[in-house]
Amino acid sequence: MADKFISLEGIAKRYGEATIFENLWLAMNRGEFTCVIGHSGCGKTTVLNILAGLDEPTEGTVIVDNQSIAGPSLDRAVIFQGHSLLPWRTVMGNVAYAVSSKWRRWNSAQVKAQAQKFIDLVGLTGSEHKRPSELSGGMKQRVGIARALSIQPKMMLMDEPFSALDALTRGTLQDEVRRICQETGQTTFMITHDVDEAIYLADKIVLMTNGPGAVMAEIVENPLPKSRERVGIHKHPLYYPLRNHIIDFLVTRSRTFVAQTPGFDTRHVPVVRPGFDTPEVPADSTVIRLAGHAH
Ligand SMILES: Nc1ncnc2c1ncn2[C@@H]1O[C@H](COP(=O)(O)OP(=O)(O)OP(=O)(O)O)[C@@H](O)[C@H]1O
Ligand SMILES: [Mg+2]
Repeated sequence: MADKFISLEGIAKRYGEATIFENLWLAMNRGEFTCVIGHSGCGKTTVLNILAGLDEPTEGTVIVDNQSIAGPSLDRAVIFQGHSLLPWRTVMGNVAYAVSSKWRRWNSAQVKAQAQKFIDLVGLTGSEHKRPSELSGGMKQRVGIARALSIQPKMMLMDEPFSALDALTRGTLQDEVRRICQETGQTTFMITHDVDEAIYLADKIVLMTNGPGAVMAEIVENPLPKSRERVGIHKHPLYYPLRNHIIDFLVTRSRTFVAQTPGFDTRHVPVVRPGFDTPEVPADSTVIRLAGHAH
């Protein structure tokens, strides 16, 4: 890979006799947006927690920027589904607290300026003095995003960050996260159950099979243009081939993949570009070409 920045190196998670997954390998490049899709219980949150350093793999390791990780770090910011704001602090207080944890020698003006920049970025200008109890669900989630971004982490980790929101708010926040990630070049790893959300946001969509013994079956490269917009995305000729490919995986192949693919090499997960021939073949990957949809 050109610029392998974060990688899972053969990680396994077991609870006693139960193997949730084993031998998972995945590399992410700097600035890349990776989504993981898979059925409930396959181990997505476990992978994210291991990336965050909040959980330990039974085997294997995680490398971030050429170093193996040990425990949580301000290099990796997590956004959970249920935002975990400090209820007694204001919006500014919550974000500033994170900023001052990262840059302990900064004076209060520096901390405030950094916090304000990210409060502005997520569209909360004017709400700096509100406390979490005075905010809507979407606004709280924005504070969580501002707080995560304000420490300028090497990686942002999101576990179904929008699933508790109404459709309109979810759409707006997806637009904002997409814009911010593009503007800041933020490397992001996100779990979602929402196929359209993954197609809109992700550069790469990792398809996980059902557990126990879950594997990453495919890395789907998003063939839609980087400049895609929510409006009209479904009219792009590659949209349905991509969407159908993912849904087909979730509906049938996620259950049968392991049995039907004996000897599957989890270290070399195939890279797939639905509806498109593959111009670049990563040296260490098998590429499955899906014929018949290219335009
Ligand atoms: N402490 C534990 N002891 C035993 N099994 C556990 C423990 N914690 C999690 N598991 C199991 O690990 C598996 C993976 O859990 P995980 O939360 O990672 O799934 P997930 O893919 O995030 O699911 P969801 O989509 O529902 O959030 C589940 O089958 C769960 O039952
Ligand atoms: Mg989960």
